[in-house]
Amino acid sequence: MKVSLIVAMDLERGIGKDNDLMWHLPEDMKFFKETTLGQIVVMGRKNYDSIPKKYRPLPKRENVILTRNTDFTAEGCTIFNSMEACMEAYKNETERTVFIIGGGEIYKLALEKDYVDELYITHVNENYGPDTFFPEFDLTQWNVETVKTHEKDEKNEASFSVLKYTRK
Ligand SMILES: NC(=O)c1ccc[n+]([C@@H]2O[C@H](COP(=O)([O-])OP(=O)(O)OC[C@H]3O[C@@H](n4cnc5c(N)ncnc54)[C@H](OP(=O)(O)O)[C@@H]3O)[C@@H](O)[C@H]2O)c1
Repeated sequence: MKVSLIVAMDLERGIGKDNDLMWHLPEDMKFFKETTLGQIVVMGRKNYDSIPKKYRPLPKRENVILTRNTDFTAEGCTIFNSMEACMEAYKNETERTVFIIGGGEIYKLALEKDYVDELYITHVNENYGPDTFFPEFDLTQWNVETVKTHEKDEKNEASFSVLKYTRK
């Protein structure tokens, strides 16, 4: 099993506000889609709720939702009541990568429990006044390479860089 984490954060490590994203960056959305297509995407129940109904489940990916609510159902999605149960279920997966796609609680859980093998972080070069943050993590444990940079333009309201972190 390979576990990747993918996130976009602003200059304050902000990832969201009022259970929504804070920016309009179609080029970063495209990167997210291309990177996760065909894979397993693991998200918190609040993140799932934040996705507009017409876009969920995210197409051509196995959508996994974590919730403590044992009665929760969502059409076309796989549900687990703990991160441990989720990781146990995919431990023998060899074809697909397990992508942790947020939000804040789920990122924190995955990093704390050391499940993550690599991270794709989009650093958005603006401040947005977030209410949800990406956790601090020990940068000395990771090699970093730049995957992509994009300037602000008529369709993308801020410049950003995508960095890939792999374990040293
Ligand atoms: N910028 C980005 O890349 C990015 C990516 C994703 C999301 N976001 C943003 O992040 C925000 C949402 O993040 P969030 O931290 O509020 O919520 P979240 O992490 O998406 O979901 C939290 C929920 O996950 C479930 N959960 C948490 N820990 C669990 C555990 N140990 N076992 C089982 N279930 C567990 C609980 O669901 P129940 O309450 O149902 O039990 C909890 O309420 C939104 O603003 C969203 O737009 C940003």
